[in-house]
Amino acid sequence: MAILIKNGTLVTASKSFKADLLIEGEKIKLIGEGLTHPDAQVIDAQDKLVLPGGIDAHVHLDLPMFGTVSSDDHYTGGKAAAFGGTTTVIDFVPQDEGTLEENINRWHAKADPKASVDFGFHMNITRFDKDVAKEIFSLPDLGITSLKVFTAYNGRLRLQDSEIFRVMRVARAAGMLTMVHAENGDVIDILVEEALAAGNIAPYYHAKTRPAWGAVEASLRAAALAAQAGDAPLYLVHMNAAGEVDQLAYAREHGLNMMGETCPHYLFFVEEDLQREDGAKWICSPPIRTERDNNRLWKGLEDDIIQTVSTDHCPFFFDGTQPIEYEGEMVAIPGKELGKDDFTKIPNGLPGVGDRMPILWTQGVGNGRLTPNQFVALHATNPAKIFGLYPQKGALVPGADADIAIWDPNLELQYGVNVAQHRTDYNLYEDWHLKGFPTKVFLRGQLIVDKGEWHGKPGMGRYLHRHEGEIL
Ligand code: URP
Ligand code: ZN
Ligand code: ZN
Repeated sequence: MAILIKNGTLVTASKSFKADLLIEGEKIKLIGEGLTHPDAQVIDAQDKLVLPGGIDAHVHLDLPMFGTVSSDDHYTGGKAAAFGGTTTVIDFVPQDEGTLEENINRWHAKADPKASVDFGFHMNITRFDKDVAKEIFSLPDLGITSLKVFTAYNGRLRLQDSEIFRVMRVARAAGMLTMVHAENGDVIDILVEEALAAGNIAPYYHAKTRPAWGAVEASLRAAALAAQAGDAPLYLVHMNAAGEVDQLAYAREHGLNMMGETCPHYLFFVEEDLQREDGAKWICSPPIRTERDNNRLWKGLEDDIIQTVSTDHCPFFFDGTQPIEYEGEMVAIPGKELGKDDFTKIPNGLPGVGDRMPILWTQGVGNGRLTPNQFVALHATNPAKIFGLYPQKGALVPGADADIAIWDPNLELQYGVNVAQHRTDYNLYEDWHLKGFPTKVFLRGQLIVDKGEWHGKPGMGRYLHRHEGEIL
């Protein structure tokens, strides 16, 4: 069945223009003025915008950590994403026991039957030796063209600088992108020990023991390692500190192949939010910082220093002892209450995959900080290009997947946990007034969200075999 979207304004990363858009099967067939089709279902998009479905390149679904698990799985997380206009997510495969391929297969077994939007995988490299180095070369054949390494989480996820340097060299040779989590693991361990010894157990000390200087230093270290690894392509994840924007700008000015992402929570919240009675809701790593950092990150987006907005979606319940209703069933998953007497035991991570586009539209486009075209670039086109999905995803062109958000720029609503569809008991943007929201969302030509109603199903999301990405 064909679908003809008429009279809308198409918004791409480079321009906005009035046109009709014809979907046939899973693909965009035609874009043009005055299109007709003998038996297409016609959707009138007068006064609406037609956007490519969003791509959130940083999510953690069904991820075991802190003795619990992130509360959205590949079904519920994909559903929440879709309600906010996102139709593709890229999740991280942890490197547990066994070969990389065994880990990837285990993640497929979890994700494939449940996924409700299209998805890809990044591979975490948290253990490195000659065998792993060799196996990295086979990951592109499995559709994985990006690796994540950590300079923090000593004794768990962290690699030594020498290992990160080797990973970058291997990744470069294999046509892959290295993503870096930049904090100083050694300093964090000392500060945490001191904080606990002094009885400083409240959520605020999570931020105080992970200083911004560690992120700044580690991001420059990563840039320098990548430069010395033959200008290996590098992507700085979850940028949170003003100084990281400066390091990214510095690296780019020096011609390095370095790119970066920030996340909505780093644009709006500050350390003082952790001092609220419900401060644990804001615990994530790296932590939220200061207004100065918020402003510098915004400027980084406005000035095209930062290439993408992702979410690091990794939700937990605020009170996992109290069930919530989810699709007619009561659900409770242990969450932030696990650390009520010790901030180091609070599961790190926040909900956000469904919030990203509506929040950034109101706060970014609505407040005149971003053009609609920059918005599309940051939320769809740039991640598609960087992560090897373009032009199948992130583009409004004939032949692309018909992943489309019909966006009503005049729709006003009071946002919060009752609107967002994450499987958790809170939302960071409770009671925020939003203007601009998706009303219809298509995944490969199938209408999965229609005026607040869900039409998707577990397993309809497809695994994306990513190719080598672009350097932006
Ligand atoms: O707090 C967070 N961000 N949890 C997810 C793990 C990570 O480092 O991205
Ligand atoms: Zn990280
Ligand atoms: Zn993450």
